[in-house]
Amino acid sequence: MSRLVTIVFPNGKKKTQKVPQAEAWNAIIDLIYPEIKPGSIVTLSGPLGAGKTTCVQHLAKTLGGKKLIQSPTFALMRVIPVADNRHGIKRLIHVDAYRIEHDEELRVLDLDEEVTDGKSICVLEWPENVQSWIQKNQTRCIAIYIKV
Ligand SMILES: Nc1ncnc2c1ncn2[C@@H]1O[C@H](COP(=O)(O)OP(=O)(O)OP(=O)(O)O)[C@@H](O)[C@H]1O
Ligand SMILES: [Mg+2]
Repeated sequence: MSRLVTIVFPNGKKKTQKVPQAEAWNAIIDLIYPEIKPGSIVTLSGPLGAGKTTCVQHLAKTLGGKKLIQSPTFALMRVIPVADNRHGIKRLIHVDAYRIEHDEELRVLDLDEEVTDGKSICVLEWPENVQSWIQKNQTRCIAIYIKV
């Protein structure tokens, strides 16, 4: 089943596009890649099975990552080494906030420090569960909404 994907950029601009199959996420990555730089946060909102982790896989590949992405639901956070020459991104921090109930639970991850080290980006599933952290970092957020 096809997905309808809306991207909201940090400046408020929106773009909506169909992603007709799991292999077609590159169309979305092409749109966000020019806007991503160290310190960027990409949020992925959508129901269970919407394709959030699939989108992260495509992004990691575009950034030169070789490690296969697994869903970090049980690990909360995974760091994927990448090798992006254009923006100098060396780490993709993949966070799955599905099991988080309060923003304070993020504190143990030291996400603020991790994502502002000048060589990392954060990609976060279930941003609804950590709304105040997202709000605090709004200016660096690219939000992706997936409708199934
Ligand atoms: N655009 C798409 N069109 C059709 N199927 C897709 C699309 N994107 C991903 N899928 C398929 O949907 C299924 C779920 O994908 P994925 O695990 O990425 O979802 P998720 O949103 O991360 O799920 P969860 O909420 O469990 O973390 C996979 O079988 C994947 O191949
Ligand atoms: Mg997932």
